Amino acid sequence: MAVQTDPPIAGHGAAGHGPESGPRRDFLTLLTGAAAVIGAGAFVFPFLDSLSPVGGPDSADATVDVDLSKVAPGQQIVVVWRGRPVFVVHRTPAALLALQDTNLTNRLRDWASRELQQPDYVVNWHRSLAPEYGVMVGICTHLGCVPGYVPNPSPTEPVANWPGGYACPCHGSKFDLAGRVFEGAPAQYNLPVPPYSMPTKTSLRIGLSPDDLDFDFDTIRQL
Ligand code: FES
Repeated sequence: MAVQTDPPIAGHGAAGHGPESGPRRDFLTLLTGAAAVIGAGAFVFPFLDSLSPVGGPDSADATVDVDLSKVAPGQQIVVVWRGRPVFVVHRTPAALLALQDTNLTNRLRDWASRELQQPDYVVNWHRSLAPEYGVMVGICTHLGCVPGYVPNPSPTEPVANWPGGYACPCHGSKFDLAGRVFEGAPAQYNLPVPPYSMPTKTSLRIGLSPDDLDFDFDTIRQL
């Protein structure tokens, strides 16, 4: 399993990593036992293909397990699932409050997740099974670049009143820490949420829905 770690969310008002400060160059992977996979911050995925399921149920990477006990509050790791980056972020209590703030939701294109960009079982304000853990396919819904993790709130960067989230280095689309796209961005849709379950409170199984539920990733709405 390939993962990339990002630093924990720092204090309020810390500098962001928006276009003005340059695309993130640290979108490189660490591995838990294999070789590095993902490239730089402006890495572009072949967009339509990237969202098509590859590998059937018997595929070696049909599911990926993640040990959440190794993801500190404020930290993000990137897991490669079926050839795609999947962001797994441990959201802090402050970040969870920000996700519910109308000062943020009023700036989002689809704050209530009405578009089919996620399984029904994560249609809620945090777009996940457990509020503190976000799980999103890390491919911009505009043209397929990999958004950078910009977790620190800032009054100015990468945009005014930044609550923390993701900034795409290619054409400037912004997403919050639940993967919800900001109004005015070239991207039209929230970041997809893959099917996943939580076998325990500290583990994820990406690619497999909870036992009593189902979700076909091929039904994700895209451009
Ligand atoms: S690919 Fe992300 S804004 Fe264009």
